[in-house]
Amino acid sequence: MNLNSSLQDFTKEVQERINAFMARKLETYDDHALDLKEAMGYALLLGGKRSRPFLVYATGLALGVKEELLDYPAAAIECIHAYSLVHDDMPEMDNDKLRRGKPTVHCKFGQATALLAGDALQSLAYEFLTTAHKGLDPQVSLKQVAILSTNAGLSGMCGGQAMDLHFEKQQISLDTLKILHRKKTGALIKAAVMMGAYAKKDLEEKEAQILEQYATYVGLAFQIWDDVLDVIGDTKILGKSAGADIALGKSTYPALLGLEESKKQAYEACDGALKSLSLLDGNFKLLADFARFTVSRDH
Ligand code: IPE
Ligand code: IPE
Ligand code: MG
Ligand code: MG
Ligand code: MG
Repeated sequence: MNLNSSLQDFTKEVQERINAFMARKLETYDDHALDLKEAMGYALLLGGKRSRPFLVYATGLALGVKEELLDYPAAAIECIHAYSLVHDDMPEMDNDKLRRGKPTVHCKFGQATALLAGDALQSLAYEFLTTAHKGLDPQVSLKQVAILSTNAGLSGMCGGQAMDLHFEKQQISLDTLKILHRKKTGALIKAAVMMGAYAKKDLEEKEAQILEQYATYVGLAFQIWDDVLDVIGDTKILGKSAGADIALGKSTYPALLGLEESKKQAYEACDGALKSLSLLDGNFKLLADFARFTVSRDH
C-alpha cells in the first residue's frame, strides 16, 4: 500500500484487501448456525465504502506501522460498523428496506437473524482484536479494545443512536445535535483513526491529540454530509432510500439549519480537520483527501 496513491487507488486497495481478509476469516467458521453466517457475510461484505478501514490503514501507515498489523483493527471496526447498520435498519429503529442497493438484512433473513447477525458481528470485532497472530502486541491490542469498546457503546455509537431515536419529531438545539452526531457516527470514525494511530507502539501524546482532533472534525462532517445526501441524494446512487430522515422526522442538520447552512457547516468541519493535519509532521495526504471527499461524495 502506498501513501502517495490517489484517494481512488488507495480506496480500491483498501476495499480489496479488507474484503478478502474478512471473507477468508468468516470462511473458517462452521455452518451449524444455519443462515447466521450467511447473514453476517451479507451485512459485512456486499457493498459499502470501507471508510473506517481506510482510516485505520491511512493513519497507521502514515505513522510507519506495517500494513499487516492493521488488518485486524481494520476488520474489527468494519464489523462494528456493519452491525450498527443492521440494527439501524430494523423496524424498531429506522425501518429501512434498502441498504447498499440491496434488501436490508432483516428483510432478507428475518428480524431474529438480523438481530443475531448484528450481535455476532459485534463479538467478531473483539475476536479480531484479540486473536493471537504474528505481530500481535498485547499492549497494542488492549489499547485498541479499549478504544473500540468505549466508542461503540453507551458514550459512543449506541448512545448517539439512542439520542437519534429519542429526538425524532423534536426540535433540538444545535449543540445537542452536534453531540448526537459526534456520538452516533463521529465516535466510530474516531475509533478508526485512533486504532490505526495506537498501532504505533510509541505514539506521542501530542500526535494522538492532533489525530483525535482531526477525527472529531471528520466524524462530524461525515454525518452532516450523510444528512445532506438524504435530502439531495439519489436512491439509486446512495443505495439507500433518500428522504428517509424527513419521513421519520429525524433531527438532522438540514432539518434544523436548512441545506445551504448544513453544507457550510460540513465544509467548516472539513477545514477544521485539514488544519489539524497541518500540525503534524509526516505524510497525511490521504487523511486530507478523505476529509475533502467526505464533504463532496455523492454516496
Ligand atoms: C452510513 O455509513 C451510516 C453512517 C454512519 C452515516 P457509511 O456511509 O460509511 O456506509 P457504507 O459502509 O459506505 O455503506
Ligand atoms: C447512522 O445514522 C448511524 C449509525 C450508527 C448506523 P443514519 O441512520 O443516518 O444512517 P443511514 O443513513 O441509515 O445509513
Ligand atoms: Mg439511524
Ligand atoms: Mg438509518
Ligand atoms: Mg442517514
